[in-house]
Amino acid sequence: MLLSAFLLLSPFLPNALTYNTLSNTTLASLPSPGTDFDVRTGAILAPILVPRVPGTPGQTTVQHHFLNFFRTQLPKWNVTMQNSTSTTPTSGGKKLPFVNIVATRDPPWAKEGETGRLSLVAHYDSKSTPEGFIGATDSAAPCAIILHAARSVDEALTRKWTNVEASHDMAFGDMEGNMGLQILLLDGEEAFQSWTHTDSLYGARSLAEEWERTLNPATSTFRNPLSSIDLFLLLDLLGAKNPTVPSYFRTTHWAYAAMASLESRLRSLQLLKSSPNHPSKRSVSSRGERARNGNLHQRKEPIWLTEANKGEGRWLGGMIEDDHLPFLARGVEILHLIPTPFPRVWHEMDDDGEHLDGDTVEDWATLITAFVGEWMDLEGYLPMDSKGLGEGAGVEARHVGERERTEL
Ligand SMILES: *[C@@H]1O[C@H](CO)[C@@H](O)[C@H](O)[C@H]1NC(C)=O
Ligand SMILES: *[C@@H]1O[C@H](CO)[C@@H](O)[C@H](O)[C@H]1NC(C)=O
Ligand SMILES: *[C@@H]1O[C@H](CO)[C@@H](O)[C@H](O)[C@H]1NC(C)=O
Repeated sequence: MLLSAFLLLSPFLPNALTYNTLSNTTLASLPSPGTDFDVRTGAILAPILVPRVPGTPGQTTVQHHFLNFFRTQLPKWNVTMQNSTSTTPTSGGKKLPFVNIVATRDPPWAKEGETGRLSLVAHYDSKSTPEGFIGATDSAAPCAIILHAARSVDEALTRKWTNVEASHDMAFGDMEGNMGLQILLLDGEEAFQSWTHTDSLYGARSLAEEWERTLNPATSTFRNPLSSIDLFLLLDLLGAKNPTVPSYFRTTHWAYAAMASLESRLRSLQLLKSSPNHPSKRSVSSRGERARNGNLHQRKEPIWLTEANKGEGRWLGGMIEDDHLPFLARGVEILHLIPTPFPRVWHEMDDDGEHLDGDTVEDWATLITAFVGEWMDLEGYLPMDSKGLGEGAGVEARHVGERERTEL
């Protein structure tokens, strides 16, 4: 009681005070992407793997794909387009259209200005050169990962909010439950000529400026849609094998550490497909070794989020210019998931579907889904299917290996 009174009196405390971890069973039951990310036929990813330069038909086609996804798969989301136009150094004085897609799902009782949100962000435009550039990691795959994660938690949000409504007096609002989920698919991230403060981030700059001016009702907890963003989780350049993602910002390091802890748990549970220790990746010789000494030979497990235990090290935030900048400048908290170094294919013709690592894309989707599940406090609401680990998680994970072995 004391805690909730405190929360009501202190509206600026981050909602994420309630951050709760997901159980092993839930982690093991997160929906598998199936064929979502197939680069030729995948329902989510394949339609994004086309050139989509602002002002070209590809831009519109991909917008329609997103709108259609929300209409058919996430009909409870409020989807709007935030439009702007701008000339670019190469447009010969012509104004190009930039269309950000903003999709939000708030609790059904939420009033305007009373909901803090986790915003999942990626840009969907592709670079105008070299001609035909696809930008699979930059950022088709991140867009697809975000859509998959949103669909994976959508039912759980419904179940949770129905439950909260049934058990609370909503007259006073429910600060702890007032968490929404938002997706920002931004346009015009890429420079047309060479990166400058005016030739880049066209969509992000327009959205941040507009939201700064969009005031919520005077007594609102959150002043404007920018202050409603509890965490701006920006995904970029993801989908190549063996990424290393530092923690860029001190003020969101705790969220980075929470995600790193999830990564580590998913790895111990052998739920990441790109791992050499995933049941599907074990070599015949390691199985042989296991047969001999009854033990699994563990290969060195890669780590993507390498800086979970960083103390007061170097914080590189702000050194990489990306869609977060106009939001950072306005006080929004940023968690930037971008590898350092960038993938080898960065801004090269071969940043295409064929050069994505399918397992890595799926694993990012699993990790982001799990993080959203924890942030939105969805333990108990996510589906738990029969492959749940239950007690003795390690044992069940080994059983998976066994099945794998008998199938061979
Ligand atoms: C959808 O979002 C827009 C823009 O944020 C807002 O003006 C509108 O009221 C929302 N609609 C619903 C049904 O919540
Ligand atoms: C924004 O642009 C899109 C695509 O051109 C268009 O369909 C939509 O109607 C525009 N929305 C507004 C509010 O102008
Ligand atoms: C969850 O999984 C981790 C990693 O395998 C393990 O260390 C832990 O004991 C498990 N927890 C439970 C409650 O089974």
